[in-house]
Amino acid sequence: MTETISFPQDRTCPYHPPTNYRPLRESGPLSHVTFYDGRKVWVVTGHAEARALLVDRRLSSNRQNPAFPIPMRRLENIRRVRTPLIGVDDPEHNTQRRMLIPSFSVKRIAALRPQVQQTVDGLLDRMLAQGPPADLVSAFALPVPSMVICSLLGVPYADHEFFEERSRRLLRGRSAEESEESRGELEGYLAELIARKQKDPGDGLLDELIAERLRAGTVQHEELARLAMILLVAGHETTANMISLGTFALLEHPDQLAQLRSDEDLMPAAVEELLRFLSIADGMLRVATDTIEIAGHTIRAGDGVVFSTSLINRDETAYPAPDELDLDRSARHHVAFGFGIHQCLGQNLARAELEIALRSLFRRIPDLRLAVPAATIPFKPGDTLQGMIELPLAW
Ligand code: HEM
Repeated sequence: MTETISFPQDRTCPYHPPTNYRPLRESGPLSHVTFYDGRKVWVVTGHAEARALLVDRRLSSNRQNPAFPIPMRRLENIRRVRTPLIGVDDPEHNTQRRMLIPSFSVKRIAALRPQVQQTVDGLLDRMLAQGPPADLVSAFALPVPSMVICSLLGVPYADHEFFEERSRRLLRGRSAEESEESRGELEGYLAELIARKQKDPGDGLLDELIAERLRAGTVQHEELARLAMILLVAGHETTANMISLGTFALLEHPDQLAQLRSDEDLMPAAVEELLRFLSIADGMLRVATDTIEIAGHTIRAGDGVVFSTSLINRDETAYPAPDELDLDRSARHHVAFGFGIHQCLGQNLARAELEIALRSLFRRIPDLRLAVPAATIPFKPGDTLQGMIELPLAW
């Protein structure tokens, strides 16, 4: 029966996997789902199998492969443009990733913490001065990572409305044309910014890459603009959703929130558990380039594979009582950031932002609460990153 389940589907509750995915949880670590165009692809839901497959070089991220699976109409044009880093395999991927790794190392991100704290404090000051109710998404959850990634890259935050709107349409556009147009506008904006910076250098990762790589010819202008676009979009949309959905989930689990308030040392573990529990990026895609035998199944060359992060992170063989938010548990080894060569480049930054944002929010506003009934608050549809569209809060 699992053959007929369509993917992706909308969540019923913003922080639980869609209830219609239940049969997938009961049909073993691998089964099939159907995409919007009728194509059947493998869906991986088992934790051990996911980690084995995500390091298997016979699964490719090359979006230009004609057999690369396309889960929704909006992404129909995905094969037309070569997407660097996340959309290519090694050795090309490795060359691009090595160029960026130093800027996202534990040490570099630790050095950024005071600046993240300052950004968070400034936004909370403003939100508190304006008084309740406030929409946490627009007042805090989106600007925190947006300001931080701008400063890291050297992109002017003054342009945030332009790139936030294009990112939103890229990730949630109604049609392939709308997504494609937004991608083109973002890439054009960044290509122009890079050209300006070549003449008038500033301070940021893009300026470093221009000085060290573009001038030496080890990266081309267009490739750099596309890399910048991935960093800019991934750098703000993801963490923004984690802050809004994480806040919502904690307010809906007052016992867990009370525990976190009474022991702030719990914060790093709490962030890992929230990443596992919320699994906001649900559906990593790959195409098989060779036969793979796994868990009694045979994946053949040309087969599409989708990793359902929300189900993998709720595999009860890996996490007892997986549907409970338990900030005390060891949620390590979750796949919310993926696994293998494409594992999230920005994970150290995301963790730092989440720890600082959530700690400061709950410390500064002890009586924070939802301003309207939970069931009336809009959240994102299943075909994009999961998160709250708005989060009206009072105190
Ligand atoms: C909590 C927030 C975040 C989540 C849940 C998240 C999730 C993910 C996931 C699941 C992947 C793997 C995709 C795959 O294997 O196909 C990924 C890759 C990536 N992420 Fe994140 N991400 C987050 C924050 C960030 C931030 C802040 C940045 C900053 C620049 C970032 C940049 C990237 C990049 C560049 C890749 C591609 C890496 C590669 O292909 O080698 N992410 N992310």
